[in-house]
Amino acid sequence: MTDYGSVPITGLPKRVTVYEVGARDGLQNEKALVPTEVKAEFIRQLLAAGHQAVETTSFVSPQWVPQLADASDLLQLIEQPAGVRMPVLVPNDKGLNRALDAGVTEIAVFGSATESFAQKNLNRSVAESFDMFRPVIDRARSHGLMVRGYLSMCFGDPWEGAVDPHVVAGHARCLIDLGVTELSLGDTIGVATPGQVVALLDALGHQGISVDQLAVHFHDTYGQALSNTLVALQHGITVVDASAGGLGGCPFAKSATGNLATEDLLWQLHGLGIETGVDLEALVRTSTWMAEQLGRPSPSRAVQALSKEE
Ligand code: HMG
Ligand code: MG
Repeated sequence: MTDYGSVPITGLPKRVTVYEVGARDGLQNEKALVPTEVKAEFIRQLLAAGHQAVETTSFVSPQWVPQLADASDLLQLIEQPAGVRMPVLVPNDKGLNRALDAGVTEIAVFGSATESFAQKNLNRSVAESFDMFRPVIDRARSHGLMVRGYLSMCFGDPWEGAVDPHVVAGHARCLIDLGVTELSLGDTIGVATPGQVVALLDALGHQGISVDQLAVHFHDTYGQALSNTLVALQHGITVVDASAGGLGGCPFAKSATGNLATEDLLWQLHGLGIETGVDLEALVRTSTWMAEQLGRPSPSRAVQALSKEE
């Protein structure tokens, strides 16, 4: 890979944790079922590329997300390296039982900032979904598990339009009070622009939520994910969700496309001299291989450019 050098900008973190969601957010949206062994090999390669946080799958209703119905079998095929986070999505008690049986060390609950998406994604209101999460979080923590949280539709919602940052901040406060230690702010349909990111971080600050408690999760539908990430970094965020090869979307959100591609993110972070510990070349090989498995090219610009270079 040709080295084009790096030039830092002041005011950015020296190191960023890339939280890899390709195996979960990416594969939950595939039309054809991906074989469990292919998923396992994908995750092994993500770990081998140096990722320190790889979300592997979801323990949700298989009727709702058949793509990830093999969660328990999948986890049996992967060894968790020491010190590496391998969270799974869990919405309810049944999911937590399955996750505990599989020996996970971290779960993520996933709430919605809007009522419409709470109904579509969890079949209940925002308040009812928080009531569903409360015993899950308590029990997970009593077993020594880490608990991440997501808030979806933080900026815009396909059924409700623009979302008020103060409403989002109120829901964020609730999730943190329930015991979530890292809250990821989801732009589920990728409509946010940088000013909205700053407005939300300000509103969260007014709720007493600090940037150390937050991560950002941008889908790239309108090509804004990298700009939004940069302003988030400038405001102190150091955990960024991304998906290898730009896989992803949400089966319950109209117009959700892939997440910010991890390779595009790494190109920017490494170009700014920010450490991630992730090997970009190795990841490009993985995403190229995965694209062959899925039968279509990766939408990531960096994967497209770098795979031609090889
Ligand atoms: P429900 O239909 O209200 O639940 O769904 P229920 O309790 O009536 O259960 C229905 C059936 O599912 C029952 O089976 C349950 O046993 C079973 P039956 O008795 O009919 O045979 N069931 C389960 N089976 C296994 N594991 C479980 C489980 N739970 C129920 N955990 C429910 C409520 C929450 C279960 C459902 O709405 C659900 O599974 N939703 C998940 C949706 C989802 O995974 N969405 C994608 C992830 S979120 C996302 O992508 C956004 C994010 O990336 C951030 C962003 O971009 O913004 C995180
Ligand atoms: Mg997502």
